[in-house]
Amino acid sequence: MMAPDLDRLLAPFKAGGRETCFHGRHISPQIYAGLDGTNWRLADYLRRGGYSALKKVLGKGEAGGEALTPDQVIAELKLSALRGRGGAGFPTGLKWSFMPRQFPGPKYLVCNSDEGEPGTCKDRDLLAYNPHAVIEGMAIAAYAMGVKTGYNYIHGEIFEIYQRFEEALREAREAGFLGDNILGSGFSFQLHAHHGFGAYICGEETGLLESLEGKKGQPRFKPPFPASFGLYGKPTTINNTETFAAVPWIINHGGQAYLECGKPNNGGTKIFSVVGDVNQPGNFEIPLGTPFAKLLELAGGVKGGALKAVIPGGSSAPVLPAKTMMDLTMDYDAIAKAGSMLGSGAVIVMNDTRCMVKSLLRLNYFYMHESCGQCTPCREGTGWMWRLIDRIEHGKGRKEDLELLESVAFNIKGRTICALGDAAAMPVEGMLKHFRDEFVHHIEHKTCKVAVPA
Ligand SMILES: Cc1cc2nc3c(=O)[nH]c(=O)nc-3n(C[C@H](O)[C@H](O)[C@H](O)COP(=O)(O)O)c2cc1C
Repeated sequence: MMAPDLDRLLAPFKAGGRETCFHGRHISPQIYAGLDGTNWRLADYLRRGGYSALKKVLGKGEAGGEALTPDQVIAELKLSALRGRGGAGFPTGLKWSFMPRQFPGPKYLVCNSDEGEPGTCKDRDLLAYNPHAVIEGMAIAAYAMGVKTGYNYIHGEIFEIYQRFEEALREAREAGFLGDNILGSGFSFQLHAHHGFGAYICGEETGLLESLEGKKGQPRFKPPFPASFGLYGKPTTINNTETFAAVPWIINHGGQAYLECGKPNNGGTKIFSVVGDVNQPGNFEIPLGTPFAKLLELAGGVKGGALKAVIPGGSSAPVLPAKTMMDLTMDYDAIAKAGSMLGSGAVIVMNDTRCMVKSLLRLNYFYMHESCGQCTPCREGTGWMWRLIDRIEHGKGRKEDLELLESVAFNIKGRTICALGDAAAMPVEGMLKHFRDEFVHHIEHKTCKVAVPA
């Protein structure tokens, strides 16, 4: 492979105008601590104490001490209450304990850096600005699960970031943090990067595995789950980029300290991509359980009007009205109790000039376009919903359309191989629950209830 042109790799991030993670407006940052947008290299990471967690696990730390056993590592993860940062919020320690460690033959570890959920832009920042945290987290995970080979599946449309990650891998290999007999411990782990081609469905874990195997990225029936039948039919654990990046801090400071940083059942910090109608969009790392109002303040407050609504967890999460959001804390349990989900952590802020019919039309188009077409309810239903919303938006809606829209959404949910169907149905349900009056107004008056900006 040709040596990457580093100036070119840095250019998109130096160009300015794009708020990223190194603006410094975080609360108790763990993963983003000390980042300035340029210090992503191994030497910088080592200066920040990088790879000390891997050394500790392997019994090669400066302070000496025995190596941790895989069970000890997993116990620490369970104690930390780290929940998967890819969307579902599944407890990471528990997931790692599902890996059949004694399985004879290959087992795999996969990092999901496909990041296709509209609004979400945290994983690409992690790979660009702190790639060694992801590599270190993966190496620790591999040790805990007895895995020798891993892959990082990176979204295809961020090719510069893929190249940067390749460069970080090269550095880690040369320094002996990856490869055979890591730091003389007897533990070996080979990690490879793989770039996808930009399909949202390849973020669904079994679609990702199919794509990684070189096939069309269509999700598999489950069970069997990847823990028993994953990549090439072998036991596989898949975690999100941010999930892996959280691991070194947990090992260095202990699961209890991580748990205490968040709130019960919601350990640690979480990175939120705050986008939409805010003055300073960007990625913000804050402890889980922080009030939404504080996060909004970090993002510079609402732009261009008053707060109307928020989609709190990526475009597939049901929308919540401003009043509900302003009383909420940003954690998995609080957002779920309010009828939405924390998902991938993309917080889409909408001001009071936004028309909910037009917004839903745009959201729905994405899911229609990204449906892989394998399951009839999703393939046909996403298009059906789009046509209904399109005619309501363009003044051709009928009185009975709202019931029909609800019924199509209801008949997609839970009736598909993967959750893309649910992801398409939930925004429809959320909008009709909280902003039905705007849809009725469009149908009755053939025009918009709010003043939509040009
Ligand atoms: C349609 C669809 C797209 C998804 N896209 C992503 C993604 O881009 N990144 C991600 O980490 N998880 C994504 N997920 C969730 C993954 O299937 C999986 O739950 C996750 O990678 C597990 O990692 P975690 O436990 O660390 O969250 C997606 C799920 C669905 C149904």
